[in-house]
Amino acid sequence: MNSSSFDQTICRRHTGSIKWEKYPGSDVIPMWVADMEFATSPAIINAMKKRLDHPILGYTTGTEALAHTVTEYLQKTHHWTIDPDWLVWLPGVVPGLAALTSMLNTDDQIMLFTPAYYPLLQIPDKYSRQRVDVPLVYEENRWVIDFDLFEKSINPNCRMLFLCSPHNPVGTIFSADELTRIVEICTEHNILVISDEIHCDLVLHDSKTHTATGRVAGDMQSNVVTLMSPSKTYNLAGANCSFAVIPDANYRQSYKDKCMFTLPIVPTLSYTAAEAAYQFGQEWHAQLITYLRNNLQTLQAEIDQIPYLSMDNPEATYLAWIHTADLPVNDANDFFVNAGVGLSPGAHFGDANYQRLNFACSNSQLLEGLRRIREAVESL
Ligand SMILES: Cc1ncc(COP(=O)(O)O)c(C=O)c1O
Repeated sequence: MNSSSFDQTICRRHTGSIKWEKYPGSDVIPMWVADMEFATSPAIINAMKKRLDHPILGYTTGTEALAHTVTEYLQKTHHWTIDPDWLVWLPGVVPGLAALTSMLNTDDQIMLFTPAYYPLLQIPDKYSRQRVDVPLVYEENRWVIDFDLFEKSINPNCRMLFLCSPHNPVGTIFSADELTRIVEICTEHNILVISDEIHCDLVLHDSKTHTATGRVAGDMQSNVVTLMSPSKTYNLAGANCSFAVIPDANYRQSYKDKCMFTLPIVPTLSYTAAEAAYQFGQEWHAQLITYLRNNLQTLQAEIDQIPYLSMDNPEATYLAWIHTADLPVNDANDFFVNAGVGLSPGAHFGDANYQRLNFACSNSQLLEGLRRIREAVESL
């Protein structure tokens, strides 16, 4: 795969794609849910095809080889040493979060930094656990944690923090210092840190790197549960191979017990895809990042030219958080859909002043979406 493969615009209509089926019978370009318009790495597709040469799929478990591959990936890519026994395979990060929530007592509360990826907002409500929101603040071109506010917001019932690192939707990469401080505060108050790091390999600023929360936690590591997956990075959304890293043996066993019978086991082909992604995906991944960085430049340059709109440069993810509150329209999301572009309403993430735009598509599709946005706004 080379960069021209990323330039292809692949038709996904009639493939059951949630993203594309949202606007049936229209030519709306969907730039909302977080899957990419790029063909998955051929190395992954080929590994899945090869697995299908064997005619039986069956109930499958994560093999020792996969545990070794993931452990090595964490070591090489994120300089984080884990014991392979700490891994728990999951059919998704979101179900994994839901199962963690269900381990809380009914009056336990969950903290999170807002805005936030909408399942993080909704899971506490669905499981009747109270949520304590701590709004992020905008400082020096970055959305950051107000640590005073964070500490002041803690009450004796707070038992979990849902941390999204890097952050969806605002794109912040938290520094090692910020993460250490989060873990220290949480450990002091007996709050378990749930670190959703699904976007960890989508770093767009070349001066930044992702830091694994579990790595900086040091001797507080038993107070951190990490959730990861190759799904965002390798366009395997919906392929259901995610994992938790849980250093504390007792908690890990309780979690496995909680997941048993309630979460489905990971499908055979998903394990195959995950192993191929971590083993053979590096070159494709490097090309992806180059392509996304270029798309981000295109997007930023265009948004800067469009009246009423502004955006922050995300440090990671392929999701742009666009400020639309100055637009003289009633409903910005409807306005853009009518213009032919489907975005994610910021309200779903807890801030109606924004729309989220997924720029993981061919540069030509991105330019066409931006042309539609620009023409619609200029006609106001
Ligand atoms: C922060 C975050 N966590 C989890 C998910 C979804 O994870 P999964 O599909 O493994 O449930 C997403 C998808 O966009 C996400 O942005």
